[in-house]
Amino acid sequence: MATQTSTIEEGLTYGAQFEQKDLVDFDTSRTYGDWRDEFHRTGCVVIKNVISKERAQYYVDKQLQWLNNFELGFDPKNPETWTADHLPVSFKGGMYSAYGSSHEKMMWEGRTEPAVVDIFEKLWETKELICSFDGFNVSMPNRKDLNWSPWPHCDQNPNRKGMQAVQGLLNFAPSGPKDGGLVLMKGSAKLFDAFFSREREQDDHEDAPPPELKFMDLFLFNKKDVQWFKDQGCELVKIDMEPGDFVLWDSRTMHYAQLPEGDQIRHVQYICMTPRRFATEEALVAKKECFEKFIGTTHWPHCNIRPTSDKPMRNGEPCPKSRAEPFEKPIVTDQVLRLAGVKAY
Ligand SMILES: [Fe+2]
Repeated sequence: MATQTSTIEEGLTYGAQFEQKDLVDFDTSRTYGDWRDEFHRTGCVVIKNVISKERAQYYVDKQLQWLNNFELGFDPKNPETWTADHLPVSFKGGMYSAYGSSHEKMMWEGRTEPAVVDIFEKLWETKELICSFDGFNVSMPNRKDLNWSPWPHCDQNPNRKGMQAVQGLLNFAPSGPKDGGLVLMKGSAKLFDAFFSREREQDDHEDAPPPELKFMDLFLFNKKDVQWFKDQGCELVKIDMEPGDFVLWDSRTMHYAQLPEGDQIRHVQYICMTPRRFATEEALVAKKECFEKFIGTTHWPHCNIRPTSDKPMRNGEPCPKSRAEPFEKPIVTDQVLRLAGVKAY
């Protein structure tokens, strides 16, 4: 899901840059003997034990600490405090991307976990990668102040064709059938071009972007569309995960996040990487500005990057807790600078 707003003019200018093909040609007859076989067949895959359970717990604690840093009375042990008044502003009940959060030390630690980087190096068959400045998700179960409905979408503009971005999610807390988690329409990425071969209307969802924002890498599907994919043999599945597991999906895949219904808080981090060569010089300049000003981006590492100083809105006003810097700044290593796109390989 895009996490920024921007002007319509920018969007229209940007629209001219849509690539119309795969940015990498994968040999479809090749067998890898690892998770890549399933990924290339279905457009998604779960990779087990990418980080240890202990390391996953470290990130859970860091995320809870981050929520506590706002001093709004949030207590992870007291469900009475699991309301918007006690939490920083999020999207869809738990997606955090504002307040410089994308550049917190913990976020860069997550992106530079060796086994995480290894996944994207294997996938794209290059070590020269750049990452998105994505957010994270902490969702409390059974919140009484939320109106939630499924919002099946994909994070690739229908004007882009082929596989151009792959999204990832590093999971930190148990995620069984009743817990919050990712729901994927397995196989839908492969049907993207067929689905969009005729004019399609976005669903009239409360979270739908205004139709004039043509640049966005987002399409919201309606109930009939969901059925269309099922009729083609796709399967809508809730991805069950253990702490330390990673899920990877082609950005053309229909998906949404399910809110938790048990008593387990959901903790995940979104991590995406693509080859640096996919990015234009212009995109790298914008990315450097985002990095230096602690601004987040969409899931797309190499394009759709818009430095913006928009503040999160709380009850129609800029949130008084707005901040332009992380609480804990990242340790800036050469690896971080390269993944940020600031330093060349
Ligand atoms: Fe999404």
